[in-house]
Amino acid sequence: TPHTVLVTGGAGYVGSHCVAELLDRGFRVVVLDNLRQGHRAAVPSDAAFVEADLADMDALTRVFAEWRFDAVFHFAALSLVGESMRDPHLYLHGNTVNSLNLIRAATTAGVRKMVFSSTANLFGTPERLPIDEETTIDPGSPYGESKFFIERALHWADRCHGLRSACLRYFNAAGAHPNGTLGEDHAPETHLIPLVLDAASGRRSHIEIFGDDYPTADGTCVRDYIHVCDLADAHLRVLPALETRSVRFNLGNGTGYSVREVIAATERVTGLTVPVRVGPRRAGDPAVLIASSERIRGELGWSPRFPDLDSIIGSAWEWRRRHPGGYRGPAVAQAAE
Ligand code: UFG
Repeated sequence: TPHTVLVTGGAGYVGSHCVAELLDRGFRVVVLDNLRQGHRAAVPSDAAFVEADLADMDALTRVFAEWRFDAVFHFAALSLVGESMRDPHLYLHGNTVNSLNLIRAATTAGVRKMVFSSTANLFGTPERLPIDEETTIDPGSPYGESKFFIERALHWADRCHGLRSACLRYFNAAGAHPNGTLGEDHAPETHLIPLVLDAASGRRSHIEIFGDDYPTADGTCVRDYIHVCDLADAHLRVLPALETRSVRFNLGNGTGYSVREVIAATERVTGLTVPVRVGPRRAGDPAVLIASSERIRGELGWSPRFPDLDSIIGSAWEWRRRHPGGYRGPAVAQAAE
């Protein structure tokens, strides 16, 4: 019989790409999502869908009574650094309590494996680059702190209940599924690549660069953009390791691109001009974040299939062209080549 996986937040951006990967590889999938950020249309009909919130312990108990899960993939969370600085309680309370509910339901049901969406924000403004798993943890925001707390809760769930976990610290998730059915659609959108694409297509008047006086080559912030399908692949690769131990991996390409380089790549990929304005720095943005993913490369043989920036932006552009209004808008037929 196929293995069954519960995916919380499976209607969201990274979660939906992992659901697609799980289904492709023959897993049975149950998606649990409150649809506050997620989109029902991002969940394929061959996955079971439960609309519920992790704050609702009774709903969780029912889900764990109805199915026997071989693993839980936990994506559901609030994930905006800036919002967490304005309302820390929302993150320190909401993300942690919801995750503790899930961990309790999973351990009570005897689930042995959990794969958890963690974040590069765990490392705040790091002292050295690239950022490997030995880098000092000093979260850059209440959002990052909430993820670190959940990593610690998972550490104890392993020690006390034998729930093995993989904590995957994503750098900047980007791109879209090559089959054109899944992409990035947040409301409000705060992420650089979808905003730059909308500035290219004229759906937005311009992109504002948040500061060009950073100590980097062109003065703009440098980030490590990793294709969302490469993240999904990593989630599947950790499952065999969880037979014997818990793991923590940093997940990025190991290459950084500045905001101006992202804009230039977008102009190359789309053939359009991106109107730019330079504004002030955004509070809390570190100048440079670049991952070392040597550990997951060495231990699990993972390596990114879509490492170059143009192919990452190209896949995001393809989805954006076909779904200019995101999941809510009408899809546009693929243009004849
Ligand atoms: N940026 C702009 N203009 C914009 C939007 C973003 O200049 O309109 C810049 C930001 O200042 C930053 C870069 O583009 O330098 C990337 O910004 P994003 O908001 O796309 O991503 P972040 O690096 O801020 O955050 C991402 C995830 C977080 C995660 C963090 C970890 O969204 O969830 O990486 O480093 F915590």
